[in-house]
Amino acid sequence: MNAEIQDNLQAPIFRHLSETADELGVECYVIGGWVRDLFLHRPSNDIDVVVVGSGIVLAQALKDKLGKKAHLSVFKNFGTAQIKSGDMEIEMVGARKESYDRNSRKPIVEDGTLEDDQNRRDFTINAMAIRLNKAHFGELVDPFQGMQDLKYRIIRTPLDPSITFSDDPLRILRCIRFATQLQFNIEERTYNALSKNKERLSIVSPERIVEELNKIMMAKKPSIGLSLLEKTGLLEIILPELSRLKGVEVRNGKGHKDIFLHTLQVVDNIAAKTDNLWLRWAALFHDIGKFPTKRFDEKLGWTFHNHNFIGEKMIPGIFKRMRFPMNEKMRYVQKIVTLHMRPIALVEEEITDSAIRRLLFEAGDDIEDLMLLCEADITSRNEEKVKRYTQNLIEVRAKLKDIEQKDHVRNFQPPVSGNEIMETFGLAPCHEVGAIKMTIKEAILDGIIPNEYEAARKLMFETAAKLGITPKK
Ligand code: CTP
Repeated sequence: MNAEIQDNLQAPIFRHLSETADELGVECYVIGGWVRDLFLHRPSNDIDVVVVGSGIVLAQALKDKLGKKAHLSVFKNFGTAQIKSGDMEIEMVGARKESYDRNSRKPIVEDGTLEDDQNRRDFTINAMAIRLNKAHFGELVDPFQGMQDLKYRIIRTPLDPSITFSDDPLRILRCIRFATQLQFNIEERTYNALSKNKERLSIVSPERIVEELNKIMMAKKPSIGLSLLEKTGLLEIILPELSRLKGVEVRNGKGHKDIFLHTLQVVDNIAAKTDNLWLRWAALFHDIGKFPTKRFDEKLGWTFHNHNFIGEKMIPGIFKRMRFPMNEKMRYVQKIVTLHMRPIALVEEEITDSAIRRLLFEAGDDIEDLMLLCEADITSRNEEKVKRYTQNLIEVRAKLKDIEQKDHVRNFQPPVSGNEIMETFGLAPCHEVGAIKMTIKEAILDGIIPNEYEAARKLMFETAAKLGITPKK
């Protein structure tokens, strides 16, 4: 037996499975992702077991053997059962033969052999099985040379790729996702079938699509998947706002950079710094406003005026369509997108205390994430430029720290509240109350008065007097 297999089958659960299957007189295999990950040295506790017979019967017998240590769940409708034992989750199912209806991802299922079951799987590296019955314990069943594909780092479908993808088009995205996570190449026929079957994505739910996209975004180098999505024409279907950023236009000898390629670089840069999924999404969306705002000006060349604000406005539509959460996660992405140019813009003028205070006030606790995006956004090939921008951001960071320590304006609330203003002057909620509050806030951010209660209260009286408002008697 292969030494790696032997090591990984040491856990007592495999011996129990082996004995149970032999007692029932059925063939039993561990299959799919667990086997793939064993050879990739990514040990996993999610174990898929296929039995040539009933998965539910096997699970019930295993539960009897394990007693109270194990928890059994049976899913009669799907013909599957799950055992949880310690930190292991074992999913048991009978070997199946599947045929598909063109309009649904739900197959018509019949009992089948191991071979039928392996034929219906998505990729050769996911179709390997290891036999658990005692007489053949640890034998690898690899009819499609999955081991070789692992060795040469190739994603390939076991059958004609058009059949595999058309049967279940979610696999189109799984293919790109595995290529990204594992940094494998996609075999040519499999690759060509991706775009050929792209229209079939229409029967996949947005939730499933997003699940795969999130996995791509969380990979070490998301650009691998994003670029594959673009090249295969899938991005145009899923996220047209991004695929439109592709390309360079030249007018009067003046070109602009390929914003899509720039964006990919920014996403990879941020992925090297953070595992925050939403910051990675914010990096992907940071320049989406550049397509609708692109103009050519005879004097200035290409401009993308207010692209950050337009980008911010585009995000709810995208989130809604993608069934992303339309809550504080969305607002976070919007905030990062809208503010993404501020730290760099700061240095183009002078880094005044007031500008830094405003930035801190607007970014709040997300200031660190915003700075990470700004740093990731520096992708120029001109070394001199990169050096200058990087140095500028170091200065902004130092200044931010300085002001933060001095003024505490992050998440700042003016020290005099609207209630206090209403109370002092006997006012109901009205425009004037807002105006007084705003004057105090602006004065603090501009450094005209310190961020302290007494100074704020004094300014409250002065501002009210100018508006002709007198204190309540
Ligand atoms: N599978 C398939 N087609 C799908 C989904 C899954 O053929 N659309 C098969 C593959 O053999 C896969 C196994 O079912 O290995 C288990 O699927 P799943 O748990 O979703 O994926 P894993 O391969 O284990 O990988 P990951 O956990 O990274 O999603």
